Amino acid sequence: MKQVIVGNLGEIPPASGKVVHIGDQEIVIFRLSTGEYRAVENRCPHKGGPLAEGIISGKFVYCPLHDWKVSLEDGKVQAPDHGCVQTYPIRLRDGMLCIEMVEQLQ
Ligand code: FES
Repeated sequence: MKQVIVGNLGEIPPASGKVVHIGDQEIVIFRLSTGEYRAVENRCPHKGGPLAEGIISGKFVYCPLHDWKVSLEDGKVQAPDHGCVQTYPIRLRDGMLCIEMVEQLQ
């Protein structure tokens, strides 16, 4: 597991997101209204909508294209729709936000 610094604590306004690229992965870091952070793949499992442009409600984000509801806890799309996005552990370390990534074997 490697940690990748993705930003400073406080740089993301509440109830919004920031897109980062790590390798070939596009990830959005959401700051919830509670002050917690969540990191998920920035691609809706329906037709690839950019979740970073969605509306955050509690611990969910609504895709901006067709309004699918995606959990920011486990990445699962809520019924009646189905699917899942990749989630990433995010930690605070010395005032910096870090995503924990599984290292790829070469
Ligand atoms: S692309 Fe996200 S709901 Fe359709």
